[in-house]
Amino acid sequence: MKASINSIEHYPVLWRDVLKHIPQTIHTMMDGTLGHGGHAKLILNAHPEIRGYLGLDRDPSVIEWFQTNPIDRLVLRQANFQKKNEYQDLIPENGLCCFLLDLGTSQNQLQDPKRGFSFLREGPLDMRMNPMEGISLLQWLSDASEVQIASALFEYGEEKFSRKIAQAIVKNRGQFQSTTELAQIIADAIPWSSKRESRIHPATRSFQGLRIQINEELSGLGQSLEQILSLIRPGGRLLVISFHSLEDRIVKQKMRAWEEELYSRSLFGPGEVIKKSLGKCMPRNAIKPSDEEILENSPSRSARLRVFVKGEA
Ligand SMILES: C[S@@+](CC[C@H](N)C(=O)[O-])C[C@H]1O[C@@H](n2cnc3c(N)ncnc32)[C@H](O)[C@@H]1O
Repeated sequence: MKASINSIEHYPVLWRDVLKHIPQTIHTMMDGTLGHGGHAKLILNAHPEIRGYLGLDRDPSVIEWFQTNPIDRLVLRQANFQKKNEYQDLIPENGLCCFLLDLGTSQNQLQDPKRGFSFLREGPLDMRMNPMEGISLLQWLSDASEVQIASALFEYGEEKFSRKIAQAIVKNRGQFQSTTELAQIIADAIPWSSKRESRIHPATRSFQGLRIQINEELSGLGQSLEQILSLIRPGGRLLVISFHSLEDRIVKQKMRAWEEELYSRSLFGPGEVIKKSLGKCMPRNAIKPSDEEILENSPSRSARLRVFVKGEA
């Protein structure tokens, strides 16, 4: 597999495990977070039987990129995997063999200063994966209340100084325009003792929280996983790669609940409950990157892969 990995620009996260856990034979495959197609190229390479690899991305620049970097057998659609109506016409009648999600932002998005994702690169405060949808971060920070800002930082960034940071942001409204200016305001609001002890940049958690807020990454994730399961045929698989504990918790809870789905049947009298499983988590726990993978691709350190195999109807 080393030969084929060398032909692509970067190591897709947990690529060995993705290849190991997708079905052995794939007729229909959907990739809900295509990015620059790292996983897509490897899967297509390993599965010549795939006729059309259905790839979605909500970012229009990703779709544009494929105009000059086409991949054979790739069927592209700009769509949000959380909105089934944007892509369900692509799904064959008897469902998908496999649905892959590699959640979060891509390195290309993070490294492009114009997108405003990184506190290390000066750029506008945008952060939208689809710049044609919703409002920019700057607009949101101007409109939101201090409580709303603090809650995004706390809930989605797990930032313990969320209130202090939200207060500083509101106090400085109108005086910052760029990612690096916002990062400085955040850093100044965090007590010195805490910054000294931390191994990460003081704006890391806040930027994560704000990105999740602006792109509504977590609010509809659980529900969209339900929709996605309904598109998979019996025996098919859902693979989800997440990058932080908040996402992974949602994925884990959903998959475990599917395993033990409870059906209430009035036929058997009130309160009577029948257990019917929708499938199985295989393996039971999340797959983590090996030491070898962390060495070749250090950002994969916090990635987790969960696999759900849908049962027979
Ligand atoms: C981590 S990257 C995927 C990388 C890809 N697996 C690869 O190997 O090149 C995540 C991609 O998913 C896209 N994305 C994130 N949330 C999305 C959503 N709700 N719907 C569609 N695309 C989404 C982002 O724009 C980004 O391009």
